[in-house]
Amino acid sequence: MHGGIEHRVGVLFVCLGNICRSPMAEGAFRAAAQQRGLAALIDSAGTASYHVGSPPDPRAIAVAAQHGIDIGGQSARPVERDDFYRFTRIIALDRANLESLRSKAPRDATAQLAMLMDAVDGRQGEPVADPYYGNTLTFEMTWSAVTLGVEAWADRLIAEVDRQQRP
Ligand code: 4NP
Repeated sequence: MHGGIEHRVGVLFVCLGNICRSPMAEGAFRAAAQQRGLAALIDSAGTASYHVGSPPDPRAIAVAAQHGIDIGGQSARPVERDDFYRFTRIIALDRANLESLRSKAPRDATAQLAMLMDAVDGRQGEPVADPYYGNTLTFEMTWSAVTLGVEAWADRLIAEVDRQQRP
């Protein structure tokens, strides 16, 4: 991080294409962090490179917009080696994404890997399914799952920061 604020918390959301699920997670988490006053470095990336440079899928942009969140300015990028040091948490949307991250992680990576639903009581390890071949309803259901997950992560991470700040 050059010249910017040094954040104690860094969260990278990762799906396959970085055009549907992880852009929604990034947008929803930015809103959740802002609401809670949680300062964090926030981004998203994909384990595959098919869509590098593309904006989010129009259906993802539309469902986010319906919930008051603009994700139209995002641009897809692949997961990079540096990510495993720049972020404190790398959060996968499904199990295949988590396995890809495990295989890409350098031995001395400092980021902790997890899944989105791990922060939700009773839903640890649940995947958020790829909505790419779905319809508007699929995207609405994906949005609901993603917001549940990111709000739980925002609560967990702010509690961690509070604990670290206590003398
Ligand atoms: P995402 O969805 O991983 O949530 O961004 C996908 C987008 C594109 C493809 C697969 C999943 N694709 O195969 O092109």
